[in-house]
Amino acid sequence: MSHIRKAVFPVAGMGTRFLPATKSIPKEMLPLVDRPLIQYAVDEAREAGIEEFIFVTAAGKGALEDYFDTAAALEQRLEQSGKKDALNALERTRMPEGALSFVRQNNPLGLGHAVRLAQKLVGDEAFAVILPDDVIRAPRGALSQMVDAHASYRGHMVASMDVTLAQTASYGVLDVEAENGRIAHARGMVEKPRPDLAPSTRAVIGRYILEPSIFEQLANLGPGAGGELQLTDAINADVKKAGVTGYRFEGERFDCGSILGFVQATAAFALDRPELEGELRTFLRERTAPLRMVA
Ligand code: UTP
Repeated sequence: MSHIRKAVFPVAGMGTRFLPATKSIPKEMLPLVDRPLIQYAVDEAREAGIEEFIFVTAAGKGALEDYFDTAAALEQRLEQSGKKDALNALERTRMPEGALSFVRQNNPLGLGHAVRLAQKLVGDEAFAVILPDDVIRAPRGALSQMVDAHASYRGHMVASMDVTLAQTASYGVLDVEAENGRIAHARGMVEKPRPDLAPSTRAVIGRYILEPSIFEQLANLGPGAGGELQLTDAINADVKKAGVTGYRFEGERFDCGSILGFVQATAAFALDRPELEGELRTFLRERTAPLRMVA
C-alpha cells in the first residue's frame, strides 16, 4: 500500500491562454484525443495508489464535478442500445463514492494559496499535488515513480526534468547540492532565473509530494512573483527543516497549459492509438513535406 494516500488537484486557475474556449468550460476539461486533461491526472494518481482526490476549484468549474458523477440515464440508454464500447469508455470516470472532495478558491491568489485551502482535507500526512496542465507520457506513471522514491528519501519532493539553459527562464529551477541517480538533493529552487543566473538546468514541473509542514509555511507566506502566493516560496522556506529533492522522472512531459504543448500532446497521444496512428502519420507526412517548386 502506498504511504501517500491523498492528492490535491489545483484546478482553480483561469486558463486565460485558452480563451475563448475556457470562457465556458474549464481548461482541465479540454480533451487530448477523447479524454479530458483531468482524466490523465486522475489516472496517474490512481496508478500511484491515491485513494482520496481533492480538487481545488473555482466558479465556472462545475463541469469537472459532473464529469466524475455517474450518468445513470446515459448509461441506461447505452446499455439498452448495446453500445458496449461507449459504456466501457465511461468506466474510467467512475470513482469510489466519497473518494472525491472539492474545496473552493474564491480568488485566484496563486498555486500556494490553492494548496493551502486543501489543509483541512489533507490533515497531518504527506500528500501529492498534481497540476493537470502537465501531462506526462510515461511507461509508468510519474507520480507512481515519485511515491516509490519518496518512501526512501522523505521530505518535500518535486518532479524535475532537464531543460536547456535558455529554457530555465520559464521554469522553477533546482539549486542542486548533490545527485544520486534520479534524485537531486537541492538547497532550494529559483523561480524563472535569467539563464546566466540559473543554478542548474533541472526544471521543476507539476508533480509534488509534500510533507504536512508545508502548511505552516503557506500560512505565513506573503505574495511572491506576480503578486501570487507561490508554492515554490513555501517549499524554499521549509528546506532547512524538511529538505527538498528533485526526482528526474522517466517519461515525456507536455505543457498542456500552453497551446503549442497541448497540440503536441494531442499528436503524441493520437499516434499512440493503433486505430488512428496509420492515417495520422500519412496526414502529417503529407502536410509537413517540403513544398516542391514547380518549374
Ligand atoms: P497557471 O499558472 O497555468 O494559471 O496555473 P492558469 O490560470 O491555470 O492558466 P493561464 O496562465 O491563465 O492560461 C498553474 C496551476 O495552478 C492552478 C491552475 O488551475 C493550474 O492547475 N491555480 C493557479 C490555482 O488552482 N489557483 C490559482 O490561484 C492559480
